[in-house]
Amino acid sequence: MRIVNISIIGFGAVGQGVARCILSKQEFLKKDGIDLRVVGISDSRGSEINTGGIDVESALLRKKQKGSVAAGSKNPHEIIRDVKHDIVVEVTPTNINNGEPGLSNMRLAFKSGKHVITSNKGPLALHFNELKEAAEDNGLFFRYEATVGGAVPIFNLVHEALAGNTVLGIEGILNGTCNYILTRMSEERMPYDLVLKEAQELGIAETDPTYDVEGIDSAIKLIIIANSIFGLDSTYKDVDVTGITKITPEALELANRNNYVVKLVCEAREGKLTVAPRLVPKRHPLAVGGTLNVASILTDLAGRITISGRGAGSIETASSILSDILYIVRNS
Ligand code: HSE
Repeated sequence: MRIVNISIIGFGAVGQGVARCILSKQEFLKKDGIDLRVVGISDSRGSEINTGGIDVESALLRKKQKGSVAAGSKNPHEIIRDVKHDIVVEVTPTNINNGEPGLSNMRLAFKSGKHVITSNKGPLALHFNELKEAAEDNGLFFRYEATVGGAVPIFNLVHEALAGNTVLGIEGILNGTCNYILTRMSEERMPYDLVLKEAQELGIAETDPTYDVEGIDSAIKLIIIANSIFGLDSTYKDVDVTGITKITPEALELANRNNYVVKLVCEAREGKLTVAPRLVPKRHPLAVGGTLNVASILTDLAGRITISGRGAGSIETASSILSDILYIVRNS
């Protein structure tokens, strides 16, 4: 049996989702010869450390009852640096102004010889190439499938399954909140404010939903795609961004009558990065509804490949993180 020790830095919806997945997949992983143990968990109020493996069920219960996992006061840096483990799962909240605290956590993890897996978009949108090089220089893995498209395996698909292809362009819908709002406004004729509130209640909107509706979250995801898949060194200023706030019910109605839907489409093609509302024919593969995300990848050999699925959610995002954990275990 191979023991794999991980820490979970950040214990919000995604961190708890990872913990739940590890619990429910324990037997499945053991059949594969993997004993996956969580040796450190931290949230904004404290932490728990157990080098023999934390009782994850109790940690989840404590979080639910007391609002924090805290059983001790070691900070995330002390866990990352001082506790012996293999993989840091960095799932603190996204901060797109300076990437913190995730950025420092990731830098320290690489410096301390730990692989990094993350769902945290901020550090990647700001310092993608620096982090990638830090991983490579230290002979470590840097995996970030969960940053874009939630459960939808865009990076795995391109880097692994489509290896050998040249990607010519990518189009996609990468923000579930906007897609939900546009779908409900168009299909149910619901007012904007009400559906935005619904999206917040579903737990898919960002803490500040301006990031969703102004297209900022989509742009950040497009930057990560551009840097990872096209090898660019792009940042926010390189994206031409228009959100959905100026779309009127009348415009949606007109599109509907002509068999179109309005979607907030991200596109990376020939070095140009764009996020903007676009008219999409109702039967087009990009015309997915509700909270779904979709990515359509145009390649030289395989042609066009389109994948769609849940772009947000605790367990869905944890699915990508678990897949990254297994990638590292199988390849190191
Ligand atoms: N607010 C994001 C969305 C969450 O609506 O897609 C997932 O990144």
